Amino acid sequence: MPVITLANTKGGAGKTTAALILATELARHGARVTILDADPQHWISHWKETSGPIRNVEVISHVTMASIQGHIRENSGNTDYFIVDLAGARNTLMATAIGLSDHVLIPIQGCAMDARGGAQVLELLGLLEKQAGIRIPHSVVLTRVNSLVTTRALQVVKELLALRRVAVLDTPIIERSAFRDIFDCGGTLQTMDASRISNLEKACDNARVFADEVRRLVPLRRVGSMRRAA
Ligand SMILES: Nc1ncnc2c1ncn2[C@@H]1O[C@H](COP(=O)(O)OP(=O)(O)OP(=O)(O)O)[C@@H](O)[C@H]1O
Ligand SMILES: [Mg+2]
Repeated sequence: MPVITLANTKGGAGKTTAALILATELARHGARVTILDADPQHWISHWKETSGPIRNVEVISHVTMASIQGHIRENSGNTDYFIVDLAGARNTLMATAIGLSDHVLIPIQGCAMDARGGAQVLELLGLLEKQAGIRIPHSVVLTRVNSLVTTRALQVVKELLALRRVAVLDTPIIERSAFRDIFDCGGTLQTMDASRISNLEKACDNARVFADEVRRLVPLRRVGSMRRAA
């Protein structure tokens, strides 16, 4: 039951949006997903209330530093993926969640790169490795990317990050109204009304390719990680 955490200490980087897209896509492919909502704005918990039951998706609200490990332990038997949505802040819950993670996704907005918050996460991951010998796989995911930004421009950003030995997902999350409206509408991208939401199909494709890439990076497995078991 891999734990995937979305982390960036900067508010508004796109953590919650990426968490929801990822969770609903993994669930659509049959994985049982539990979202641990530790965002003080509770967007995903509100989304779940609006949506009603969604196949394969459970949301646990008000997750705290004291409760996160228990939630993971108690739900490991009925969950294929845990997705942790954190606050845009540098705090002990972030450090705890990162320590429990099999992969940390660091959303950074497009080319403008609100990178400082991402850098703080990378710094913490570096410290964990250097001081405790714990290496947690991680990657940056570019978010809210303008659909007109060329593959070439994105390639330049990726190469810059690669120079710093930071992995970047091949799939950016594009700025799409569907990714905003899903929080109001509830449900999934597939249940939204294509006649009312522009480029819904493109948003669906983007979500699918993004989740496929994450699934390849963090394959489903049913045995808990050595770290958690220890
Ligand atoms: N790909 C996207 N397309 C359109 N709007 C987006 C996208 N990603 C994020 N947004 C919008 O940007 C704003 C911030 O996104 P989000 O809430 O996901 O960020 P966050 O990192 O979770 O913020 P916080 O740190 O405050 O929890 C929201 O209004 C959201 O709807
Ligand atoms: Mg959030």
